Amino acid sequence: ARGKTLSGKKVLVTAGGTIERLDPVRYLTNDSSGKMGFALAEAAALLGAEVTVVAGRTTASPPGGVRIVRAESAGEMLETVLNLYDEMDIVIKAAAVADYRPVHTYEHKLKKTGERLVLELERTTDILQTLGERKRHQLLVGFAAETGNLETYALDKLNRKKCDLIVANDVSSEDAGFNVDTNAVRIYGPEGLVEDVPLLSKRETAARIMDVVVRRMKTSGGG
Ligand code: PMT
Repeated sequence: ARGKTLSGKKVLVTAGGTIERLDPVRYLTNDSSGKMGFALAEAAALLGAEVTVVAGRTTASPPGGVRIVRAESAGEMLETVLNLYDEMDIVIKAAAVADYRPVHTYEHKLKKTGERLVLELERTTDILQTLGERKRHQLLVGFAAETGNLETYALDKLNRKKCDLIVANDVSSEDAGFNVDTNAVRIYGPEGLVEDVPLLSKRETAARIMDVVVRRMKTSGGG
């Protein structure tokens, strides 16, 4: 039993993938189902927290007992998350946010021609980095989806984005990462590896991540 260790705390979780529109019927997105983010939201709610999920495109069903706020694009997710940020005690960024978006979003459906079509993309704002720069009392938890060099890239993201913890998953493994029911993660803090979580259901992975978050809240006196 884990107890209501987060009662009175406000937790924000982002889940799913963002959608970057090209025209009214076409968009760029990724394979995120929202399973990991929703599992974290559920785990935090079970610990007694008041949970808000900012969700992009998801295919998983959202848990009960949490507030769901929809945000389509990286830009919308940034705005929504920033509006909620000050009141939060813990922020967990499990969403797969687009790094690039089309420079032009066409108002009408693009017509095909005989020519090649070249799409020009521009960078989106990094939400996690923005939160890191504006961090005050919040415990900020990022994710890192990597296909190799887990520790190096995860610690680099933790430092650049000023996170308190980063959850790294090797998404090259078939049973971990995007759109599957299981995950295997390593949780890093500024001091290095904090916990190696083996292959488990996303529900159990989420509970293990929240255990680490609860321990950090205690040691940092956060909230
Ligand atoms: O939804 P599921 O199907 O269950 O899959 C879960 C998952 C694989 C999506 C999840 O476990 C995960 O790894 N999420 C993060 C995916 C990701 O975008 O990783 P990244 O390494 O590209 O980004 C690092 C961090 O920066 C993430 O916390 C991300 O939310 C954040 N970011 C990235 C780009 C951006 N423009 N803004 C951000 O905030």
